[in-house]
Amino acid sequence: MINIDAKSHVRGESVYLDDIPLLEGTLFACVYDSQVAHGKLKSVDISEAKQCAGVVKIILAKDLKGENQIGGILPDEPLLADEEVHFCGMPIAIVVAETDEQARHAVKKIKAEIETLEIITDERIAFEKGSLIAPPKKFVMGDTEKAFKDCEHIFEGQTYSNGQEHLYIETQGAYTIPSEQGGIKVYSSTQGPTAVQKAISKVTGLPWHQIEVDVTRLGGGFGGKEDQANAWACICAVATQLTKKPVKYSLHRMEDMRMTGKRHPYSADYKIGLDKDLKIIAYEAVFYQNAGASCDLSLPVLERTLFHCTNSYFIPNVMATAYSCKTHLPPNTAFRGFGGPQGMFVIESAIAHAAEKLGVDKAEIQQKNLLQNDDEFPYGQKVVSEAEQSWHQADHKFDFNRLKSEAEEFNSSSKYFKKGVSLMPICFGISFTNTRMNQARSLVHVYLDGSVAVSTGAVEMGQGVNTKILQVAADIFSLSQERVKVHTTNTLRIANTSPTAASAGADLNGHATRIACEKILERIKKVASEVLEVNSEEISLRDGMVFIGNSPTEMTWVKLLEKCYEKRISLSEHGHYAPPGINFDWSTAKGHPFAYHVFGTAIIGVTVDCLRGTYEIDYVKACHDFGKTMNTAVDLGQIEGGIVQGIGWMTMEEVFYDGQGRLRSNALSTYKIPDVYSVPKEIDILPLETSRENLAIMNSKAVGEPPLMYGIGAYFAIREAVKAFNQNNFLQFDAPFTAEKVLMNLYKNQSN
Ligand code: MTE
Ligand code: HPA
Ligand code: MOS
Repeated sequence: MINIDAKSHVRGESVYLDDIPLLEGTLFACVYDSQVAHGKLKSVDISEAKQCAGVVKIILAKDLKGENQIGGILPDEPLLADEEVHFCGMPIAIVVAETDEQARHAVKKIKAEIETLEIITDERIAFEKGSLIAPPKKFVMGDTEKAFKDCEHIFEGQTYSNGQEHLYIETQGAYTIPSEQGGIKVYSSTQGPTAVQKAISKVTGLPWHQIEVDVTRLGGGFGGKEDQANAWACICAVATQLTKKPVKYSLHRMEDMRMTGKRHPYSADYKIGLDKDLKIIAYEAVFYQNAGASCDLSLPVLERTLFHCTNSYFIPNVMATAYSCKTHLPPNTAFRGFGGPQGMFVIESAIAHAAEKLGVDKAEIQQKNLLQNDDEFPYGQKVVSEAEQSWHQADHKFDFNRLKSEAEEFNSSSKYFKKGVSLMPICFGISFTNTRMNQARSLVHVYLDGSVAVSTGAVEMGQGVNTKILQVAADIFSLSQERVKVHTTNTLRIANTSPTAASAGADLNGHATRIACEKILERIKKVASEVLEVNSEEISLRDGMVFIGNSPTEMTWVKLLEKCYEKRISLSEHGHYAPPGINFDWSTAKGHPFAYHVFGTAIIGVTVDCLRGTYEIDYVKACHDFGKTMNTAVDLGQIEGGIVQGIGWMTMEEVFYDGQGRLRSNALSTYKIPDVYSVPKEIDILPLETSRENLAIMNSKAVGEPPLMYGIGAYFAIREAVKAFNQNNFLQFDAPFTAEKVLMNLYKNQSN
């Protein structure tokens, strides 16, 4: 089945925020933001801006009717700067004008007097100064101190991984419309309609039932709109409340890049200990997360770094500590992988360190330590592991030794081009680590003409979740896909939603839809059994016809629905799903947080141009654990996109703030993401063969985030190629491995 949005995307008919027809009288908002990263806000002069043509209102913190607070986890994030500014790009004032151009013009006339205070941009400096978002988090298993005493080999080092700009094609934005009795209807490009509703409630003082949030789809979110869509929706809502007019704000690319947070940069210390057989006996890591100026989602991101700090390896003695460091950068936020990739980069670096010093192949250490069934993670959960299976099936299909010797052979006869190959196993836990967020609802109506309308809490952002949800309903009622429509995500139809995140959107909302459809089906079948005078168990529906056993009857799906209506049986249902068996207790830092894990093993090959420092990704070949995919095309699309995004983070995307906390990589000319030339020349995905049952919808495991982490392999493949050229250099673990850094490393400490 093709993605249900494919045709309307190609025709340009799909509706995004900017495609919503505007009501007459719509006003436009634009934000005046701080140019200083940290300072005392002495005064804001709006007198000149007020006089500008078309300006209707200028809103400052003091004008808000509700609280000046949008922090979702900690109340540490004002919507508008009040007494202090905390980062470059922090909103100070909202200009509301008759046209977008007029609003943007007037913003330039605002002046703020800011007394600069000390600016911290570096996480380690923040840590030294005691500037933390919250107390540290820690995972402990076994006894590392004791275990290190028994280790044959111990290696210690530091790593750094930089942030990443989400670069969703559709920038942040919102459109708010006044409704009766002082309410507000909100169109928002958000992954979290309820998060938007809650934040607007706070800043306007309106109760939740006065706020309707509606989302058709996003032009990408990647985590950047899990929490950070709230501010823009709040800005429009506040303006609508104060002007009683519809208000729209759609950010320009440079505003978006400057004012919103990104993937968290991490600095880390590691210590790894191995026995003489290369088994990893002990691992210690300390993570310093650069949270930015307020908490946002930094704490759950930090926690997931700990959850994934041992990747797909079993290590009996682990101590991992994580600090969320408060700096004067825009608050960093969720980004595909949610802290997991940052944790996995560190253990992969530690293993590379050990392998290089011991003169063994990194893959040998990786393979020797793969998780086995029933091994325990540092957080107490026992694993149902596919780590070895995916490794072996990938090896069988792609032949690791052949690929490695091809590279070696090439290198022996090539002076200025070198190839590198690296293996990257992944293990990613599926569920929100905050157990209570793992719930979802679905509203299903079966109409008397035989068509079906489904609404859930899931937000479509290109990942194909609506296609999967439609498949669930069509499958249960045995209807063709044209007879089912998945409608917009709307807080009046589905309340108290979790954001569409943690790769759990299809599982949670798919199961809720399954439950709703099954309940309706049960009632319908009962009516059919009464009319046809057989047992309900003998009834089934196939392609719009009622069957008794294997024999078709005269009764159509539509006729049966008429009978249900006649008998006054409800054809609607509100399904609720909460995955069973998950829990986590932070007082002991143990539990069973994940419904299941997704595994896979990739082999990545690169070629480095040793005169220029540039490189090409030759291939990514992976055996990936889909469970049993319910939509191959959608899932392969997710894998390809995830791999490319992961490679971008690890190799070329370089977020750069200067010492004053100003974003210098603030446009597409200075921030480079993978393009058609830099994507792998070949992506070959082999589905893991396994028949194990799991908690995924239709056994089709979540696929949104895990493949991103195959991209880490590209970093280590480039490292292999650089080492093939320059053996006299122990390279730092410093991502991304930009062409510039590659070039420096190719010629560092070179004796010949
Ligand atoms: N794919 C596309 N095309 N666009 C996106 O914004 N977001 C990713 C992933 N794949 C994203 C995407 C992220 S961060 C997550 S958590 C999941 O999709 C969310 O959707 P799911 O739960 O339905 O997998
Ligand atoms: N993953 C993604 N998003 C989240 C999570 C998580 O575990 N927790 C809260 N938001
Ligand atoms: Mo994804 S980072 O959980 O939105």
